[in-house]
Amino acid sequence: MSDIVQIFDTTLRDGEQVPGCKLDMEQKLVIAERLDLLGVNIIEAGFPVSSPGDFKSVEAIAKLVKNATVCGLTRAVRKDIEVAAEALKYAKMPRIHTGIGTSDSHIKYKFNSNRDAIIERAVAAVSYAKTFVEDVEFYAEDAGRTDNEFLARVCEAVIKAGATVLNIPDTTGYCLPDEYGAKMKYLRENVKGIDKAILSCHCHNDLGLATANSIAGVLNGARQIECTINGIGERAGNTSLEEVVMILRQHPDLNLDTTINSKLLYDTSQMVSRKMGMMVQPNKAIVGANAFAHSSGIHQDGVIKNRETYEIIDPADVGVTESSIVLTARSGRAALAYRAKIVGYELTKTQLDLVYEEFLKYADSRKEVKDDDIHQIIEASHIDIQS
Ligand code: KIV
Ligand code: ZN
Repeated sequence: MSDIVQIFDTTLRDGEQVPGCKLDMEQKLVIAERLDLLGVNIIEAGFPVSSPGDFKSVEAIAKLVKNATVCGLTRAVRKDIEVAAEALKYAKMPRIHTGIGTSDSHIKYKFNSNRDAIIERAVAAVSYAKTFVEDVEFYAEDAGRTDNEFLARVCEAVIKAGATVLNIPDTTGYCLPDEYGAKMKYLRENVKGIDKAILSCHCHNDLGLATANSIAGVLNGARQIECTINGIGERAGNTSLEEVVMILRQHPDLNLDTTINSKLLYDTSQMVSRKMGMMVQPNKAIVGANAFAHSSGIHQDGVIKNRETYEIIDPADVGVTESSIVLTARSGRAALAYRAKIVGYELTKTQLDLVYEEFLKYADSRKEVKDDDIHQIIEASHIDIQS
C-alpha cells in the first residue's frame, strides 16, 4: 500500500499572486469547487487580512467546500490570525497557516530582529492560532536559505506549541534537490516530536527546480506538497500540481501516491488558464498542448506502431483524448498514411510514395500540415483515388 502524500493547493493564494491574474470571487468559487472535485486535500483559499475581498472569498470558499480542508494564510500577527479564524469559521475542516521568516536575511532585513525573538514570535503565533482551530500549519519562510540547526530549533518549538504541519518553503527557489531533500532528512532526524507533525514541501521555481525539489522532499520524509495548477505563482511560479501528481503515479515503486483524480487534470488546467487569462506554455509537462504531440518521423512511426515507444503516460489518464500526430516537413510516410486514413484516404504503397513527394514540397513552406491540406495535396499528386 502506498503512503498518501497530501496535496495542498495554493492556486488561490500563492498562485493568485501572479501580476495581472486577479480573480473575482465568482471565479475563485468555481476554481475551489473544481479543486475539491479533483481530490486535493487542502485548499489554501487566500490571505484573509490582506483585503476585504480576500476575506469574503475565503469565507465563501469555507462555506462551499465539501471535502477538503480550507486554509487561510496569516503572518505571525495576532490580528491576521483573528481575521483568518473569522473567515474560516464555516469550514468543515479549517486550517490556519501562520509563520515568519527564519533565514538570516529575513531576520535582519525584514524584522530587524534576532533568532531568539523570531522563535518567540513563531511560538506565540502558533499558540494563538491553536485557540481558534485544532489544525495549525507553521511556515518557516525562506527555510531554503535557513541553516538547518536553527530551522530544527524553530520546528521543535512550534511543534511543542501545537503545530500540526511544518511547512519548509524554498521561498526563493534557491535549493538544489539534494540540498532540499537533505534538509527534510535533517529535520526528520533532529527535531524532537517530529512524529506529531507532517513535513510539507513548498517550492518556488526560480531555477526551474520546484518539482524536483518537492519530489526530493517527499523522498526524504515530507508527506505534503504545496503546489498550484499549471505551476502558476510569484515570479517563475510554484511547484506544478499536475507534475508532482503524475510523477508519483508513474513511479509506483516509490510507494507514494495522492488522492487526485488525474483524469480531471487537463480540464482543470484549461479552466484555470482561462479564468486567470494566463496561457499554458505548449511544452508544459502533462498539460501543455504539445505534451502528447509527436512531430518527427522517427517518433511518429514508433507511436503509430505502439504508443509506449515514446509515451510514458496514457493521455487518457490525464484527461487528454488522444496523442496527436502532427504533420510537418519532418514527418515520414507512416504519419502521412495515418492522417490520410483518418480523413478518408486508404493509400497503397505506390500512391503513398507519390503523395509523400507532394507532401514534402507543401510541408517545406509551412509550420504544420493540417487535415484540410491533405485533400489539396492528394489532388495535386494526380493519383486515382476516391476519398
Ligand atoms: O513561499 C513562501 O515562503 C510562502 C509562504 C508565505 C508560505 O508562500
Ligand atoms: Zn510561496
